[in-house]
Amino acid sequence: MFEEGLNLKEKYGHKNVYDFSLGNPILDPPEEFFNSLKEISESKIKGIHGYMPNAGFKSTRSKISKKISEQSKSKLNPSDILMTSGAAGAINVILHSILNKNEEVIIFKPFFPEYKFYIDNHGGKPLFCDFNEDFTPSLDSLKSLFSSKTKAIIINSPNNPTGITYSEKKLKDICGLVSEAESKFNSDIFIISDEPYRYLEYENNKQPFIFDLHKNGIIASSFSKDLSIAGERIGFIALGEKLKEKELIIDALNFSNRTLGFVNAPALGQRLVENSISSIVNINKYKAKRDYFYSKLISYGYEIVRPSGGFYLFPKSPINDIEFTDLLKKEKILVVPGTGFGAPGYFRISYSVDDSIIENSLNGFEKAIKNSKI
Ligand SMILES: Cc1ncc(COP(=O)(O)O)c(C=O)c1O
Repeated sequence: MFEEGLNLKEKYGHKNVYDFSLGNPILDPPEEFFNSLKEISESKIKGIHGYMPNAGFKSTRSKISKKISEQSKSKLNPSDILMTSGAAGAINVILHSILNKNEEVIIFKPFFPEYKFYIDNHGGKPLFCDFNEDFTPSLDSLKSLFSSKTKAIIINSPNNPTGITYSEKKLKDICGLVSEAESKFNSDIFIISDEPYRYLEYENNKQPFIFDLHKNGIIASSFSKDLSIAGERIGFIALGEKLKEKELIIDALNFSNRTLGFVNAPALGQRLVENSISSIVNINKYKAKRDYFYSKLISYGYEIVRPSGGFYLFPKSPINDIEFTDLLKKEKILVVPGTGFGAPGYFRISYSVDDSIIENSLNGFEKAIKNSKI
């Protein structure tokens, strides 16, 4: 898709191709980030760019544990935080630490496609849970997937690709089923909450922290989206107070962080997020893009579950999703077919683009849905 986008842009000019295929944050990082960057660049403190303990700088971990303690019902210590190379690094470090060969990890359709590869990286087997009309996981499907081999489930809210946020009730229902399965199979199941979009939420849904609902809940997160610094590769793992065999897990996470090839999270990134811990991009700009784009597409006849977070729309495809994305391509519009997310019959639009791209693409969206009905 990326290559195809480049080819089209070369042929027709960048302004004339409407690329909604990438999940790259478009907003500027907040002022505090640039101030901190300037300050660090002028600092000559000895060793500032050297290695640090594998879990990361204590001062950074301390700021993150304090922030989560203030927002959750748990009291976290700096030792409950491990700095990672983005949320992607966090998920890989967790999976490497907990998985034995052929153990199963349940993921919810539609899913972030990389999960399959992350699970495969560490010898695990992905199982796929079906979804309801509103894109929440089907609890019947989830129930049917548990076995003695289940090691973890991954949840992602606000969600990529659908943009929906799980309600507290839904999260509690999921946790209830996990507890039931743990009793049935006499096992421990981790719930990994992948939440790089936690603070990109436009409906004021207060999402609970997973370890407040399930003792073996682990957070994988990052600053990629809320500070718009995806390229700086800075994220973290957060462990709850009641995590079973916590010391052993912390040792394993540290070891994985050191040996998977990252060695530790970037030093500069850690300092930057530490100094910008209370900041966030101007999410009202994403909200305005969502509201405008959603209302226009609905008026042309697209069926869409209204997203509450992230920067994605996941409309129903009026015809087969691969064929429809080809129709959109004729209008020089690039989107991603739902098939790649385990949800054929839908397609993903990333609205993290300039307003002019949205505006100029609208005719094409209107034409494509009309043409699909001919
Ligand atoms: C659902 C989800 N998880 C994880 C990631 C990876 O985030 P990071 O850039 O922090 O590694 C992304 C990135 O787009 C994502 O959409």
